[in-house]
Amino acid sequence: MTTERLIFQRSRTHTCGELGQEHIGQEVVLMGWVQNRRDHGGCVFIDLRDRENVTQVVFDPIVSKEAHLLSGDLRSEWVLGVVGEVRSRGENTNDRLATGAIEVAATRLEIFSKAKTPPFQIENNIDTSEEVRLAYRYLDLRRPSLQKNLMLRHQFNQIVRETLSGQRFLELETPFLIKSTPEGARDYVVPSRVHRGKFFALPQSPQLFKQLFMVSGFDRYFQIVRCFRDEDLRAERQPEFTQVDLEMSFCSEQDVQNVVEDMLARVWREIKGTELSLPFERISYAESMERFGVDAPDLRFGLELQDISEVVADVDFKVFAQALAGGGIVKAINLRGVGELSRKDLDGFIDFVKIYGAKGMAWVKVKDGNEWQSPIAKFFSDEIKKSVEDKLDMQPGDVVVFVADQKSVVNAALGHLRKHIAKERNLIDAENYRFCWVTDFPLFEWDAQANRFFAAHHPFTSPHPDHMEQLESEPGQVKALAYDIVLNGIEIGGGSIRIHDFETQQKVFTALGIGDEEARAKFGFLLDALQYGAPPHGGLALGVDRIMMLLCGTDSIRDVIAFPKTQKQTDLMINAPDNVDGEQLTELALRIFNPESSST
Ligand code: AMO
Ligand code: AMP
Repeated sequence: MTTERLIFQRSRTHTCGELGQEHIGQEVVLMGWVQNRRDHGGCVFIDLRDRENVTQVVFDPIVSKEAHLLSGDLRSEWVLGVVGEVRSRGENTNDRLATGAIEVAATRLEIFSKAKTPPFQIENNIDTSEEVRLAYRYLDLRRPSLQKNLMLRHQFNQIVRETLSGQRFLELETPFLIKSTPEGARDYVVPSRVHRGKFFALPQSPQLFKQLFMVSGFDRYFQIVRCFRDEDLRAERQPEFTQVDLEMSFCSEQDVQNVVEDMLARVWREIKGTELSLPFERISYAESMERFGVDAPDLRFGLELQDISEVVADVDFKVFAQALAGGGIVKAINLRGVGELSRKDLDGFIDFVKIYGAKGMAWVKVKDGNEWQSPIAKFFSDEIKKSVEDKLDMQPGDVVVFVADQKSVVNAALGHLRKHIAKERNLIDAENYRFCWVTDFPLFEWDAQANRFFAAHHPFTSPHPDHMEQLESEPGQVKALAYDIVLNGIEIGGGSIRIHDFETQQKVFTALGIGDEEARAKFGFLLDALQYGAPPHGGLALGVDRIMMLLCGTDSIRDVIAFPKTQKQTDLMINAPDNVDGEQLTELALRIFNPESSST
């Protein structure tokens, strides 16, 4: 009879993570999953698990014959309700477990569900392939490490909401079925049934809508919002990801940055228990490229890049000479502190820099008496050797590596090599959080292949007011009022002050090769809005998944997303993307041709 069932009669009194000495003697009701079962001749012990922790339950025939009898069948992952008395574990206390001082002696047991043997153990350290774990994501999500990550994500969202609401930001929603806005990736498109042959696009971000909120006078907006970008995936990218998106009116770059710093300081205080030192460091884009080779510098270790182009200008080494003659540069890193480096290690570095387009990498090992052991030593006169040594502070025992090429190749190669070595050689303190703002980005980037400028951030970013004159004459020299926020070498957010006047917006479109007609077709609503009284405004978006990845100390963005996609943009649990039936296609006026050729 259903009415006799525990679930209808008694409410759960505690979670599996909260009982301790102070509850001894109380009758409690626990509900959860069987973590494991041990039969110790006479008594059956189980660890009952819920999202908080596990509690030991003992089925003792002296306490309840009936419950003990039932407990004989229990298996891992069965779902139970238990009534019992909390008692001390005495000298069997398990100090490693928060609930280790007590156990619950069951007087009643009800089995809510049985479970098939799961395809992997529900525990933290398993070596099951990620494919299997993703196919059974609902089981994977039972593992304590993933539960903890998602619970922290909840906490992060709550802190964001509280902080921003406290500062007069309104949480407002924006549509998902929109028309494409350019943010640099491909759009996901959604066919319209009603308007056959036409498509919506899913937003790459709510950029234009949040700007329109400012035009509407909402003053301060935020949203924890999903964004969709069809791009090639990397470790820290997902096709759908979440932003804390915010926008404010009548603000400077500094105002936006202050809001973000205060919010992140509170996140780190409440989640990590650490006090971040504010304000965050600022480094210009140019300086970051110069010293670290990338625009998202990891400041937790040295190994900075040094430009030695001038010092080696007269070296009779073909590789350097050709690079310099072709307008390129030569940069070096002194690898002091990295530890012993064998030929094999150095060959590994050479293979590594080739990934970033470098044609090679030269190296010097400094021996006693400053003698150079190096394949390129013979090309250096004593005088130039000395200048290089001075410039790079080379001491006996040091190893220095060099790459010569076009600036972008040298920076990418050595910038990534720097991070690679620090990681490989454990030079990084995992609990060190080094935030910085990267500022003074260029407004445009030249794309040699397309032979035109692209917006470095997005085309609604304000040029620096001092550079307005150069918009037409020297677009490549114009700086933007744009800023990224970087944590430990990962870009966790980006934003800018926006253009709030029609003329400047038009000029920027022109510089980007977007003609009046195209601008009207694509952004007519924005251009109109800018003519009806737009306040100066700016904002930023933080990448929540990346922040959570760093807060949770994991290398994979998938570990902080409940139902992520694989690197190949598939969902292995629901099997998506998938075919749709012919009727749906007909209704949408779509026809698929050659489906095989696109299914790689
Ligand atoms: P942006 O394109 O720089 O700016 O995006 C903001 C932040 O979102 C995160 N991010 C991603 N995270 C996971 N997977 C992805 N595919 C992905 N792409 C971006 C990054 C990034 O810093 N509308 C502007 C913001 C603004 O100007 O206010 C924007 O979207 O952490
Ligand atoms: P090679 O003359 O090709 O035998 O190269 C001599 C040395 O220069 C080798 O140690 C190469 O690894 C190195 N080298 C080759 N290309 C580059 C480059 N673009 N930058 C720096 N070193 C290079």
